[in-house]
Amino acid sequence: MKTFELNNKQHIPAVGFGVFMIPNDGPTYDATLAALKAGYRHIDTAAGYMNESDVGKAIKDSGIDRQDIFITSKLWLQDYGYENAKKGIENSLRLLGVDYIDLYLLHQPYGDYLGAWKALEEAYEEGKLKSIGISNITVNLWNQFKDGMKVMPAVNQVEFNPFVQQRELRKVMDENHILLEAWYPLGHGNKELLENPVICELADKYHKNAGQIILRWIYQEGVISLPKSTNPERMKGNIDIFDFELNAQEMEKMRALDTGKPTHNPEDPANEVRLSQLKIHD
Ligand code: A2P
Repeated sequence: MKTFELNNKQHIPAVGFGVFMIPNDGPTYDATLAALKAGYRHIDTAAGYMNESDVGKAIKDSGIDRQDIFITSKLWLQDYGYENAKKGIENSLRLLGVDYIDLYLLHQPYGDYLGAWKALEEAYEEGKLKSIGISNITVNLWNQFKDGMKVMPAVNQVEFNPFVQQRELRKVMDENHILLEAWYPLGHGNKELLENPVICELADKYHKNAGQIILRWIYQEGVISLPKSTNPERMKGNIDIFDFELNAQEMEKMRALDTGKPTHNPEDPANEVRLSQLKIHD
């Protein structure tokens, strides 16, 4: 698996397996184990997905050395604020059954954000979190929070795919050496994306499927992708993207597919209200 280097010199596998919306107590366990068998070495979970314990069990049962697997998790906003965040980090470590997490993110940009970030910074200094980062941060939000951060985030995990290219955000993140991570890299199975003629033409040329063309393009853009699949064949296929290369003209053709319109706007107050209602523990 190819890796990217983060701004603190840690290496992150370029494609990770995302377990968003996969239930705990079985399905996440099965999916994670299947992903590890298929060759994934990077699992992306979150306290808010409520499936960290299944991820932890699958990693243990896989027989693969802990240090060979890159685990990302995220703090849910119910645990924001300095004191709560310290407990939230311990909770993730306990549920995953590990003594360190490779990458830990602040999941959503609301509440006592910088209080929570301070707790992440301390856990980073203590070595419990090997890298720390942010998620769903727009340029506006970055400008709001950056001066309150001592440790530079390693990544910003946002919606990203050929239809949602986040140009302005990428420029600002590049200037700060913060790598983008793509959630919904396949547009969450969006048919318009997966059946797009430009993408299908490239799929024919390279004997790959549309998903593989998209994930290859994301890789060549220097962005980490977190595709999700519960189908074993697609799961395998989604990391089988390192035996071909899109040329400069093809990369440009893919860039031309940008609509400039994310489906999720973190600055919409309705999203804050909606997400704040999710309580993951008492
Ligand atoms: P499935 O689980 O049946 O494979 P995203 O990662 O952007 O959220 O997209 C996930 C969705 O895309 C899931 O519905 C998944 O369905 C589907 N999917 C995953 N990989 C591929 C692929 N290579 N081609 C087409 N659809 C895919």
